Amino acid sequence: MMKRSAFGFVAAAGLGALALSAPPARAAVDWGSVPGKDIVLFYPGQSSYEWALTESEMSGAKSFRTEGKNCDTCHIGEEKDMGPQIVTGQKRVFKTGEKPSIEPTPIAGKPGSIPATVKFANDGTNLLVHIEFKEGTQPDAKQDPATATKVTVMFIPKAASEATRTGCWAACHDDAASMPSAAGANRTKYLPRTHAKLTRQGGGDALKPDADLAKLKADGYVLEYWQAKLNPGAPASAVSGTVFDKRQETAPSRASAEASGSAGNWSVTLSGKMAGGGPIDFQQGGLYQVAIAIHSGHTAKRFHYVSFERTLAIGSGAADFVAVKK
Ligand code: HEC
Repeated sequence: MMKRSAFGFVAAAGLGALALSAPPARAAVDWGSVPGKDIVLFYPGQSSYEWALTESEMSGAKSFRTEGKNCDTCHIGEEKDMGPQIVTGQKRVFKTGEKPSIEPTPIAGKPGSIPATVKFANDGTNLLVHIEFKEGTQPDAKQDPATATKVTVMFIPKAASEATRTGCWAACHDDAASMPSAAGANRTKYLPRTHAKLTRQGGGDALKPDADLAKLKADGYVLEYWQAKLNPGAPASAVSGTVFDKRQETAPSRASAEASGSAGNWSVTLSGKMAGGGPIDFQQGGLYQVAIAIHSGHTAKRFHYVSFERTLAIGSGAADFVAVKK
């Protein structure tokens, strides 16, 4: 059955004025006709970019640096084992031995991973992403009382080359809020090259000179995200934003969201204009990377599930996901 749009609901209720703020009408996509891909999102604890690039912490760091091996090549397929051992806050056990905990404040009873099926499509004007996932029984972490679940898609253009190799880790630094080197600071996500210097502790607060930042921005060195906010029994809402020298919400939101389901079992569609409203212009035939995050159980900041990076082609192309024309 087709889900009634927010526009339809408002109009039917006779509240015409409210309809002005509703998202623009677009044709509904029959998601049953779009091929999907199953992915697993896992709980990453405090595994920052700098942590992952340090060989004594993460033994794949050397191959990443010297052989050009990206995070996904070693780890896709392992997420359902990685998450459950990180989320407990205990020492982690590998064939090669034990490694210390990377979760100092575990949430009791939290599942370690979430399976999802992801589909992309475009209608010539809008890019759409459809995500079905089972978050399982989630304890209430009470970090974000207003929102039970948030689903976020991160779009990564070619110019953000650290992120095309590591996905969201390029934006997740050791000194961001709730990370090991934060020392109480409330830093958001940022991209490595916006900061003057990057150490094992992250980039701190010193940025590159303005001219360098302007050049990076002009070259398209920026990430964009679309996020759906979900509460059982209530309409979904959406925000969009960018990650450059910090994370910043865009107003008005480029994305809108529709969702059905309930806590534990969701079906979410995020959509937004392919051109305008954000830094990335999605071109037919264009190739991007994407990664997905889910905050379940009223969590905030780093207490989410994340995916490794995947490729996304618009219209047609060779990629993990093809946003087929509908
Ligand atoms: C060459 C293969 C390889 C690459 C590339 C690689 N890793 Fe790893 N990773 C490993 C191995 C092996 C382990 C197991 C622990 C260890 O030996 O450090 C691991 C462990 C991890 C863990 C902890 C898993 C757990 O169960 O506790 C995380 C998180 C992680 N890697 C993230 C990353 C990220 C992010 C990148 C990209 C920057 C990356 N890895 C690239 C091989 C790799």
